Amino acid sequence: MTTPVTVTVTGAAGMIGYSLLFRTGAGQLLGASTPVRLRLLEIPQAVRVAEGVAMELDDCAFPLLMDVEVTDDPRVAFDGANVALLVGARPRGKGMERADLLGANGAIFGPQGRAINDAAADDVRVLVVGNPANSNALIAASNAPDVPKERFSAMTRLDHNRAMSQLARHAGVHVSQVRRMSIWGNHSATQYPDVFHTVVGGRPGVELAEDTAWLAGEFIPTVAQRGAAIIEARGSSSQASAADAIIDHVRDWYLGTPEGDWTSAGVWSTGHYGVPDGLMCSFPVTSDGKGWSVVDGLEIAPFSRERIDASIAELVEEREAVRALGLV
Ligand code: NAI
Repeated sequence: MTTPVTVTVTGAAGMIGYSLLFRTGAGQLLGASTPVRLRLLEIPQAVRVAEGVAMELDDCAFPLLMDVEVTDDPRVAFDGANVALLVGARPRGKGMERADLLGANGAIFGPQGRAINDAAADDVRVLVVGNPANSNALIAASNAPDVPKERFSAMTRLDHNRAMSQLARHAGVHVSQVRRMSIWGNHSATQYPDVFHTVVGGRPGVELAEDTAWLAGEFIPTVAQRGAAIIEARGSSSQASAADAIIDHVRDWYLGTPEGDWTSAGVWSTGHYGVPDGLMCSFPVTSDGKGWSVVDGLEIAPFSRERIDASIAELVEEREAVRALGLV
C-alpha cells in the first residue's frame, strides 16, 4: 500500500463537509489505490459535531481511511497536510457590507494561510471553496509566502458542471457529449460561462453561441443564478453538488484532465488573456497531474470579452478592498 495522503478539511461539521468526507473516505478523491488520513478543522463551537462525523466515518470501516483527527487549531489541522480543502467560511450576515464580509473571512483565511505556510507538507495543494472563494484564496495564498502561488486554486468547478448540464439540455444531448466548457472570472453572479469553444455532440459550440438572445437571456443567468434557485427550491444551499465538484476538481488536479478536454478553476493569474497578474481568476485549465495550466490561444469573441472584463473588474475591486483591509 502507498503512503497515506493527509487531507485537511475545514468546516468539517458543515453541510458540504457531510457529503465530502464520506466520499473522500470511500476513496473517490484521489483514486481507489490511495489511502487517506483525514484532519478535520472546525471552530470550537462545532468541534463536537465534527467528532460525531468522525464517529460515523469510523463506522463506515472504509478500507482506505487510515485515521481521522478533529481539531480547532489550524496548526494541528494543517500539520503535514498534502491536500487542504478550505470549505469553512463566514457567511454573509444580515446587513453585512462586502467589506465586512471580506474582513470576517480575512480573519479566517489569513491565519489558515499562515498555518499552511508553516506546517503543511512541501507538496501541499490548496483548494478554496468557502465564499467569497476567489478573494479568500487570494488572502490564503498571500499569507503563505513560501508556498508557490500555483498550488492555490479557488473552486469554479460547480459552475462549470452546471454550465455543462444546461448546455447539454439545450442541445438535446447527454452531458457526457459536452467538452471544453470554460468559466471565466469570479465565482459570483458576474462569472462568465463560455460556450464558444465547447464541443457539443461533435458540433462546435460557436454555432449554438450564434443565438445570443438565448445565451444572454437564458443560459448565462441560469448558470449564474443556479445557487439561488437551489436555495429557493431546497431551502438550503447546494451541498452534495458542491462536494461533488470538489471531488472532480481535486481528481483532475492530481490525476490529470482527460485528453482533448479541459476544466475550469480559479488560479493565480500570470497575465493570460489580459487578466492582471496576481488575481485569483477562473480560466479554462488543464492538468497533467502536477498542476494547472491555463489553456492558451483561445480566440475571445467581443460578446465574451465584455463579460470577462466585467468579472475581472469585480475581482479587481475585491482585491482593492482586501488590500485596504491589510489582508494581502
Ligand atoms: P455550512 O454553514 O453548513 O458549514 C460551514 C462550516 O464551516 C460550519 O460548520 C462552520 O462552523 C465552519 N467554519 C466557520 N469558520 C471556520 C473556521 N475558521 N475554521 C474551520 N471551520 C469553520 O456551509 P456549507 O454549506 O458547508 O458551505 C461552506 C462554504 O462553501 C460556504 O462559504 C459556501 O458559500 C461555500 N460554497 C462554495 C461553492 C463554490 O462553488 N465555490 C459552492 C457551494 C458552497
